Amino acid sequence: MTRTPLIAGNWKMHLTRPEAVELAKAVAGASKGLTDREVMIAPAYLSLAAVKEAVTGSPVRVAAQNVAWEKQGAFTGEISPPMLQDVGVDMVILGHSERRHVFGEKNAMINQRLVGALRFGLTPILCVGETLDEREQGNTFKVVAEQLSQGLQDVQAEQMQQVVVAYEPVWAIGTGKTATKEQAQEVHAFIRTALEDLYKKTLADSVRILYGGSVKPENIDSLMAQADVDGALVGGAALQAESFARIINFT
Ligand code: 13P
Repeated sequence: MTRTPLIAGNWKMHLTRPEAVELAKAVAGASKGLTDREVMIAPAYLSLAAVKEAVTGSPVRVAAQNVAWEKQGAFTGEISPPMLQDVGVDMVILGHSERRHVFGEKNAMINQRLVGALRFGLTPILCVGETLDEREQGNTFKVVAEQLSQGLQDVQAEQMQQVVVAYEPVWAIGTGKTATKEQAQEVHAFIRTALEDLYKKTLADSVRILYGGSVKPENIDSLMAQADVDGALVGGAALQAESFARIINFT
């Protein structure tokens, strides 16, 4: 089973519009001619349209960092799937640890967002991952299994082919403390088995599972060498053209 690697940059709440356009152009330049991997960037909502325009003609995909589940309505502060599609966005990060832990999003709401995204034809990246406390208590697999089964509730097998999963241990995000390649592979393999239990082996084998949490030029190659690591979701190191270019060009 071949899974096309996906290197994704999550810009979080960084960069003004001109800064975002400048970085997007650099990413497009660094991605030129790459056919064996996909590159994605997720700017803040306000920069989506300008960034999409800046990378047009390049293979770089543009994603949002969240999305609501309805077409329109009384949802103050939210953005709908058709609004994203209107500016050319076709991917969305969901259930990021900052959405879960800073903004209190629970599995049920993340599932609602994910089902809504799929209904409108957006490709979701479902983020899962344990806190340090949960890891130390020996609950990593339990937490991740729950985030997966609840996050994917009511998602049919044919829709699941669209879904990307990202394993981001909370203790590794923005801390400089990357999971070792063995720790990453262990949880990625567990996620694939959990997907097999929820769906079928052939489907589980086709789902891309990204690793996120202090991914850097120095560790990308060894992470990508792991059997079940199919890409990376990069925060801090995606904000500099040079480091993200090196990560895109992992070997
Ligand atoms: P860092 O790469 O800054 O640790 O962030 C990871 C992340 O949260 C990507 O979504």
